Amino acid sequence: MAPGFAAAALLPGASFAQRALSTDRLIIRSGRPEDLETPVHLLNSWITPNDVFFVRSHFFTPIVDAAPWRLQVDGNVESVLILTLDDIRRMPSTTVTATLECAGNGRAFFEPPVPGVQWRKGAVGTATWTGVRLADVLQRARVTASTRYIWLDGADTGVGAAPDFIRSLPIEKAMQRETLLAYEMNGEPLPVSHGFPLRAIVPGWEGAYSVKWLTHLQASTRDHDGAFVQAGYRYPRKPVAAGALVAVADTVPLRDMPVKSIITAPGPDAVFPAGAPLTVAGFAWAGEAEIARVEVSTDGGGTWQPAQLGRDRARYAWRQFAYVWRTPAAGSHRVLSRATDTRGMTQPATAAWNPAGYVWNAVDAVAVHVGTAVPPRAVDPPIAPGGDSALLTSRCLSCHDVELIAQQRLDAAGWGREVDKMIGWGAPVTGGERERLIADLVRLFPAHRSAAP
Ligand code: HEC
Repeated sequence: MAPGFAAAALLPGASFAQRALSTDRLIIRSGRPEDLETPVHLLNSWITPNDVFFVRSHFFTPIVDAAPWRLQVDGNVESVLILTLDDIRRMPSTTVTATLECAGNGRAFFEPPVPGVQWRKGAVGTATWTGVRLADVLQRARVTASTRYIWLDGADTGVGAAPDFIRSLPIEKAMQRETLLAYEMNGEPLPVSHGFPLRAIVPGWEGAYSVKWLTHLQASTRDHDGAFVQAGYRYPRKPVAAGALVAVADTVPLRDMPVKSIITAPGPDAVFPAGAPLTVAGFAWAGEAEIARVEVSTDGGGTWQPAQLGRDRARYAWRQFAYVWRTPAAGSHRVLSRATDTRGMTQPATAAWNPAGYVWNAVDAVAVHVGTAVPPRAVDPPIAPGGDSALLTSRCLSCHDVELIAQQRLDAAGWGREVDKMIGWGAPVTGGERERLIADLVRLFPAHRSAAP
């Protein structure tokens, strides 16, 4: 799939040095911090190989030296633990195959747009994780009975005045057998981008619980009060109108992921010869539940046929599905997939809008063309007409690269809220500069719709 945009190329000048935005493998949503999306055509096996697994990072990637590294376990415990990697590797090991999905996967499809990394379909993957049970480590520290949360902190640190990335895991989930502190991913030591030397794996729950580069676990009687628990990764308690502003008090923490499927083959706007059967394939997953069935429609949702589920399965891993469409007629078709889980939940036709753009799980759709000429490809429109902004360069690019800004689809009001958020996190913007910055952002990165899934 083509990368969503090429903003850097459209912004000539030394300040926005031209750089490739897509490798031949992963789509670079942000180079620094590292946010990399898997193009769906590379999601073609039950296990996602390490080098094509999506990467989500809030801050700069810490390079951790394993020798001096320690994991400290403290707080509401009877015995504070300070463990080396060897100490952890000497404990009984457990292997779990689990799907990880970023809470914001599919954010690019929400209308009206919401700020954040504009993931399309590929911030999801499945790996086999090896490590120790978090429960074993907590038992070794003799966590006291009043503990309700485990706070997870990694070696990454906030930039500017942005808060440290700390997550808070309810004790029941922390004690579950499949919740791990993992040091291996698909049989290899954790890659740096995936949390070397140790990360949490919290199967079934949105990806941000699976904190990378772990250094500190703290047992507590209360929830953590940091921004990534009290403001981020929360979802409206009740359905909200699209575009509404929702007070934090009206939200609850995201945990389990809802039922979802994606079509990974054919790719978007694939063209096939007439008269030949055509296989529609992809993956379906449902947080803590299992997939009961996947259906495919080849007539835009008029009728549905059952897809076959793949044999590979694990409690917290996605299922592959395939449907052979034997007699596709010539013409353009909208092919859909729709999963239902063992809780009886089915993917909705449209995902519920929410202010942070989390858990997009609408029925998936691809356009397939049989026996016709190649139509124009559905790609995101170009972002910027050209131009530069010295103000933006000096005020905005110390903590992250320009892609993180360029991919947003915001209007002036949306940019205003972003600039204020960044000022809160330490962007050095003085009073008079705020309006000029917003004008530059609107001019360089105008609001637009993403291409349909
Ligand atoms: C002091 C550091 C800092 C500066 C300076 C800064 N940002 Fe950010 N910005 C951040 C952090 C931290 C994030 C969140 C990264 C993440 O979680 O992925 C972020 C994310 C963003 C995002 C993605 C949407 C979101 O809210 O997560 C946009 C857009 C953005 N910044 C715009 C700007 C603009 C415009 C400026 C200049 C006015 C700016 N930033 C300056 C720290 C900064």
